[in-house]
Amino acid sequence: MKIGMLTGGGDAPGLNGVIRAVTMRSISEYGHEVVGLKRGWKALLSPEEDTLMPLSVDDVRLILEEGGTILGSSRTNPYKNEGDPEKVVKQMEEFGIDALVAIGGDDTLGVARRLHDDFGVQIIGCPKTIDNDLSATDTTFGFDTAVSIATDAIDKLRTTAKSHERILVVEIMGRHAGWITYASGLASSANVTLIPEVEPDLDEISDIFRARAARGDKWGLVAVSEGVTFSSDFVTQSAEKDEFGHVRLGGVAEGLAAELKERTGIDTRHVVLGHLQRGGTPTANDRILSTRYGYRAAEAVANGEWGKMVALRGDRIVTVGLEEAVSETKTVPPESYAMLKSFFG
Ligand code: F6P
Repeated sequence: MKIGMLTGGGDAPGLNGVIRAVTMRSISEYGHEVVGLKRGWKALLSPEEDTLMPLSVDDVRLILEEGGTILGSSRTNPYKNEGDPEKVVKQMEEFGIDALVAIGGDDTLGVARRLHDDFGVQIIGCPKTIDNDLSATDTTFGFDTAVSIATDAIDKLRTTAKSHERILVVEIMGRHAGWITYASGLASSANVTLIPEVEPDLDEISDIFRARAARGDKWGLVAVSEGVTFSSDFVTQSAEKDEFGHVRLGGVAEGLAAELKERTGIDTRHVVLGHLQRGGTPTANDRILSTRYGYRAAEAVANGEWGKMVALRGDRIVTVGLEEAVSETKTVPPESYAMLKSFFG
């Protein structure tokens, strides 16, 4: 069997771990052929000269510790224009690909599901996102790395915030789910952590910093998720949407820093962590999780478990229907945030 593999959406540390494990097991244990498809769904919609990347065991053996994806990625949506899904299926046939392993978040997996349902494409999904917002799996690789980077950044910002008696407002990725902010705010003991799931109360936050200043601590740290809304409005970098209809979030920290300065009289600065959170080498946990996903995905292909996605449930890797994978955004539960809030101040 010839397996095509692609990575779609924003990259996440650990993608190469999946690519490595799928390739090594598919070739060594099942005798399959594996070919990488470069730049996500673009590979099958508008292929370029270098789209096909044949993968051998030797090609992938040493990529586990490398961040990013050797296959490249894009946010191409084959369901955006009429007739495009048919082109994708035809292109697969032209490449002689029998089955696909699609590694991505809800957008990529949503396309995978539709191609399977509409055309019977033999497909296995693998969940990926630093945002950790997929409900069908306990966690996704990339999340642990992003949390470590954000935690480390907040820890570093604390020393300079103290020296200069400033409030530092740190903007953290995660779209409409506050997982990275929640976890890094908790791990770094930020004074206030704000997530999209709960609209912030500016009076309450200002009171916290006024009380700290009254105790002699005229400094502080705020971890704020890029998707936090004020009066139900998102702060966006531009109104332009990607092919899946997402706006580019960004700018909430700057506005919040100005507002806190105005209200408390304490000097403020803001920092946007941005794509640093997706860069560099994966943590040991993400290397392990991505390897386990890839190993099981190769088995799912060999078993013909089409239309399924690998998922972590407890300490086991299982397969679940792709429809489950894309049905719901997993957000931070109110009780978890209540626990975190009890440490504010
Ligand atoms: O979904 C992953 C993510 O990193 C989000 O946290 C963030 O909002 C978005 O991607 C950024 O996308 P891009 O890389 O296209 O700027």
